[in-house]
Amino acid sequence: MPMINKRLNHHTHLIMTPSHSIRVIALLFGLLAVAPHLPAKEAPAITGIRPGEVWPDTDGKPINAHGGGILFHEGTYYWYAEIKQGKTYLPKVNAKWGGTRVDVVGVSCYSSTDLLHWQSRGNVLPAVPGGDLDPKKVLERPKCVYNAKTKKFVLWFHSDSVDYAAARCGVATADAPTGPFSYQGSFRPHANQWPINITEEQKKAKAGQLVKDFPGGQMVRDLTVFVDDDQKAYLFAASEANPTLQISELTDDYLKTTGKYTRAFVGRFMEAPAVFKRKGKYYLIASGCTAWEPNAARCAVADSIWGPWTELGNPCVGDKSDITFQSQSTYVLPVAGKPDSFIFIADRWNKDDLPDSRYLWLPILFDPSGKPEIRWLDPWTP
Ligand code: GAL
Repeated sequence: MPMINKRLNHHTHLIMTPSHSIRVIALLFGLLAVAPHLPAKEAPAITGIRPGEVWPDTDGKPINAHGGGILFHEGTYYWYAEIKQGKTYLPKVNAKWGGTRVDVVGVSCYSSTDLLHWQSRGNVLPAVPGGDLDPKKVLERPKCVYNAKTKKFVLWFHSDSVDYAAARCGVATADAPTGPFSYQGSFRPHANQWPINITEEQKKAKAGQLVKDFPGGQMVRDLTVFVDDDQKAYLFAASEANPTLQISELTDDYLKTTGKYTRAFVGRFMEAPAVFKRKGKYYLIASGCTAWEPNAARCAVADSIWGPWTELGNPCVGDKSDITFQSQSTYVLPVAGKPDSFIFIADRWNKDDLPDSRYLWLPILFDPSGKPEIRWLDPWTP
């Protein structure tokens, strides 16, 4: 049969005569002899940021850093993010809304001085069977901040059960940016605490998620942490089962909330919050709430972190701006030493193969009124 003949032919190419074997062995020895003189494996040359493309680290492996944030510390950027690895599956409890997942592996950390070449610093908060860090739980959107008073690196993240019902925040600390981080535990903030902008009428209403969670603490899902110029830090978290973004002041050591918090964007389902400050004003870029599916980004501005926040609409401009160029915000990075330079960092989720999700980094420009503008650019350099 032709198929068999083809295979035989193929095999005949592999049959070596004794003289062939000697030549091959000699060649191998030759290679071994020169190997020690070869230069160390060079990092792949990266000349620009390619939004949506696989981004290799300095070892040539695809960067595994999803839903993350970046800390600039003593001349180096540290990128902390979810490791998405292994099989993507849909737990039965999430079937209705399509909440696929991979098991928790931990938090990756990469370092860079030029924002193009990223060196893997490993898994700085690995999964631990049994508790909040169990592979079967949820660990999302890690954000690391540096506390100048305690000299600790403090990592906040969304800690949850597989069905996202626990809705808590987790905190870990380290003495060095590359860890190891030690886990401090998870909690729901604001048990028995009312937000600063609640009315007496709302308190008495005895209805709604805010009131329901009053005794046990408010829900925390998608989150970010923002450190202001005066070193005060704030937690921004999708709360009350997602429609409200709660903004909470953190204690001086950044390990807890102080009890002062406000409700913002009530009924707007702001997810994936990213916060930055420009020319004395606070900006928020967020997404709508459609699980892994992309939607139109929103942005807002405020003179005070406590609001009032004014929505400015979709910051994205151009083709596919209605789906944030097929991505969801995770962080806005001010470029160190480059005034008025900000990078929009987003995830292009692949809900059927989460480890193959990509990153979308684009510069943020501002129109004359101060509204952020994000346009597609590929490739580009910060
Ligand atoms: C998104 C959220 C992600 C993740 C995902 C799960 O809305 O922003 O962080 O939780 O849902 O489907």
